[in-house]
Amino acid sequence: MFAANPRESIVSPSGSVFPQDTRAAFDRAAGEWLAWQRTPWARVYYALVQHTLATLLPTPGHYIDVLDVGGGNGVDSLPLLGAGHRVTVLDCSSVLLSESVAAAERDEPGRARLRIEQHDLDERRPLPLPPDSTGWDLVLCHNVLHYRDHPAELIGRLVDATRPGGTLSLIAPNPAMDVLAAAVRDRDPVQGVTMLEAPTRRSATVGQVMNRLERSDIEAAVRAAGAVVTDRFGLRTVVDLVSDDDLKHDPEWLSRTMELELALYRRDPYRDVARFWQLVCHR
Ligand SMILES: C[S@@+](CC[C@H](N)C(=O)[O-])C[C@H]1O[C@@H](n2cnc3c(N)ncnc32)[C@H](O)[C@@H]1O
Repeated sequence: MFAANPRESIVSPSGSVFPQDTRAAFDRAAGEWLAWQRTPWARVYYALVQHTLATLLPTPGHYIDVLDVGGGNGVDSLPLLGAGHRVTVLDCSSVLLSESVAAAERDEPGRARLRIEQHDLDERRPLPLPPDSTGWDLVLCHNVLHYRDHPAELIGRLVDATRPGGTLSLIAPNPAMDVLAAAVRDRDPVQGVTMLEAPTRRSATVGQVMNRLERSDIEAAVRAAGAVVTDRFGLRTVVDLVSDDDLKHDPEWLSRTMELELALYRRDPYRDVARFWQLVCHR
């Protein structure tokens, strides 16, 4: 997956190897992916996403339709069930979709408001719409765009699926952190120089090649698709620069670091170098 696991190696780019079968990769590596989600660094990431999503939700008592595209096991969107919203998790992986149902049954009130949709984005079909509606109130596409050969094409479909006036949230790994993490956390300045210009890197968790997407290029694609970027966040500015993994399992350290991450995630210049960029877009 993305270099969120501090022990993940970043390989030198050898040019694009696309097309690759991302669909099969996530089914095959579902166990590794679920294990990664339990790491302290993944938990920090998902907690930060919950903070940013809270800024996008309507006032209590108003309920919305949410589509989580490439939502996997639904870690980002299932908590919205508990707040009364209607959630559809769309993914190609039957394994991860089943996990999302199991998690909703286990952890979340509102299982009846969860729908799952097995859908292969490679087929380039329009995304489904909620019943009797022109689009979703909130569309999430978190950590999927960098697996696409043509991210702008998917952004067009995401904007089309968002109702006029609705919100789209996009997240992908930030190339700047590849350079900093190589040099600081991994103590490998040579790799840092390599990563300055590398078009891709490889995920150790899933084994797939990931395109390194600059936030500014995705912002241009959002504008071209007819939406407006209204907010920018940076998720995990600090954790990825620390090489001591044992320290990250210390609850006291983790809690203090989470406080710091929360102080940084919408501030310049920290958000510009964080592990992930997040764009909030309005159609
Ligand atoms: C890195 S995971 C992100 C999961 C979730 N959004 C999150 O952030 O925890 C990428 C997800 O995209 C899904 N995916 C990859 N290629 C896909 C495709 N062609 N069609 C539909 N889903 C796809 C994978 O199955 C996986 O669940």
